[in-house]
Amino acid sequence: MATKTKNVNPVESAGTLKYQLKTFEKIPIKIWDNADDGAINIAHYIALRIKHKQQDNDHIVLGLATGSSPIKVYNELVRMHKEEGLSFYNVITFNLDEYYPMKPDSEQSYVKFMNEYLFNHIDIKKENIHIPNGDLPIEYVEAFCQEYDKKIDFYGGIDVQILGIGRTGHIGFNEPGSWLSSKTRLVKLDHLTRRDAIKDFGKEDDVPYRAITMGISTILKAKQIFIMAWGSHKSEISQQAIEGEVTEIIPATFLQSHPNVKYYLDHAAASDLTKINTPWLAGICNWDDNLTAKAIIWLSLKINKPILKLRDDDYIKNGLSELIALHTTCYQLNIKIFNKLQHTITGWPGGKPNADDTNRPERAQPAKKRVIIFSPHPDDDVISMGGTLLRLVQQGHEVHIAYQVSGNIAVHDVDAWRYASFMQEYVQASGLDSTDVDTAVNKISKFLDKKSSNDKDIKELRMVKGLIRRQEARSGALYCGVSPKNIHFLDMPFYETGGVRKNNITDQDINIIMDLLNEVKPHQVYAAGDLADPHGTHRVCLDAIFEAFERTRSEKWWNDCYLWMYRGAWHEWPVDEIEMAVPISPDEVLKKRKAIFMHQSQKDQPVFPGDDEREFWQRAEDRNRDTALLYNQLGLAEYEAMEAFVRWKFK
Ligand code: F6R
Repeated sequence: MATKTKNVNPVESAGTLKYQLKTFEKIPIKIWDNADDGAINIAHYIALRIKHKQQDNDHIVLGLATGSSPIKVYNELVRMHKEEGLSFYNVITFNLDEYYPMKPDSEQSYVKFMNEYLFNHIDIKKENIHIPNGDLPIEYVEAFCQEYDKKIDFYGGIDVQILGIGRTGHIGFNEPGSWLSSKTRLVKLDHLTRRDAIKDFGKEDDVPYRAITMGISTILKAKQIFIMAWGSHKSEISQQAIEGEVTEIIPATFLQSHPNVKYYLDHAAASDLTKINTPWLAGICNWDDNLTAKAIIWLSLKINKPILKLRDDDYIKNGLSELIALHTTCYQLNIKIFNKLQHTITGWPGGKPNADDTNRPERAQPAKKRVIIFSPHPDDDVISMGGTLLRLVQQGHEVHIAYQVSGNIAVHDVDAWRYASFMQEYVQASGLDSTDVDTAVNKISKFLDKKSSNDKDIKELRMVKGLIRRQEARSGALYCGVSPKNIHFLDMPFYETGGVRKNNITDQDINIIMDLLNEVKPHQVYAAGDLADPHGTHRVCLDAIFEAFERTRSEKWWNDCYLWMYRGAWHEWPVDEIEMAVPISPDEVLKKRKAIFMHQSQKDQPVFPGDDEREFWQRAEDRNRDTALLYNQLGLAEYEAMEAFVRWKFK
């Protein structure tokens, strides 16, 4: 995958590592540039341990996790098996947990997960695989659990245990309240955990209420533990697990007492750690412009005073006296950071023609730019940057929108059925030849009659759902004034599995993006820089764009193209990282809302609402208003709403 660098590297800019005086971490951590590097490192370590044991004619016991965190570890182990001959003949595995009740052949079972991601692709002996049995009658569960712990002991205990962390702080399915001495047992799942599982089950009602999990004491008996957290949605809980007091309210804090544990994070997951978020509280810093801006914005918001009103005393009382020492007085510093923020604000996202652009986020020339907005799902364009899109069109730029995936799994069956039967009746009423349409619609009807939450949609139904989202996206784009010929549906193949689990990206996906880039030769590209879920669709779509950029480096348009990143539906960039803030007028906010309304299948109750009760348009408006409010609190002009962007700089 491409090497890339953003201008803000939190660890470098934190700059405390060399001089750190005080550590807040109670578990050894390692922060990786990206989740892939961290996961691959764990896979290589496991491979090494397997080989050492093979040299000694011994077996090795691995404790395995499911969920999104370890997927890349498994991918790498499979790659090493296939390409480097790594054998698993001496490997014995124990999985952490399984939903209860759960049939092993169900789509969401951890048995299926492990087979798909690991066991089906390596030479492990079937009898060496152990996964809690979610299919047992309840009266046998307790004995099964006792037996599970005994078996682990029988094989000499777990040599290497890998863990993810849930947003409740669970490890395995040891939810808040789990006690230190707990063993393998049947547990109740926390509400938040069940909500997070909706992405796998489709709807909340289908998510089991219980699970069988290894206990805390079972996990802590492992000789070595790696815990992984990737993505910004894990930052808060990781901070608590690593820096907080040991408490059963956050079971991951029990790991603090383990003698051989490592906590692996990517930058996004590490962003709430003291040494990253407020490094001046941890020790002496190497103050560069980015860190100075971060500190001053933090101070201004903390004490609720606009930047230009901050006084030396405010700096000194809040752990920032070092800055005063470096700059004699804070006033010049205040002005410098205020101006830096001021320069991010522009009503001309495509550049202001005939204006001095020295301090503007975008270039004035060429006055009319070719722009591609990549929208991972069919509604991200209007949700995340609808106001900017309206301005780009209105200011005369050639705006293209490229919808990366079909988004077909996020359409309710009833909506698809309504369109399918409409199509059938339309064909019949118009006297057109209806044989093929009838066959397809009858097939859909039969499938829906018997569909269970386990079934993947048949091709015909997926097509109807995909077309619904296409029409909605087209309506939204046309409403914003985009020319019909500039609307592109990429239908990237990695997405088309019919289920929640997607395939890995391949050259086919990347070529589709390269072709569009080479055809349009853009001056500006917008992409969803959603780093929240490293294995989610947004992240995969972003990685495909990065890779396409890497592979088109030698093209003439490349050096003249800026890549801007908007955030996905839920979060906004931290203010100190924003490089372009586009104000949206009250009228534009309403217009953007209408464009989002074009996505009717996602209104009221979307199939995948995530952990948020609000509708997408409400989330977008709240977020855009919050950004404007933050700028205002820092002492800048008061706008109705703002959309924010960060520029990606390739190495
Ligand atoms: C999975 C497990 C859970 C997950 C945790 C994080 O076997 O026991 O503790 O590790 O819920 O899930 P992801 O990795 O999907 O964020």
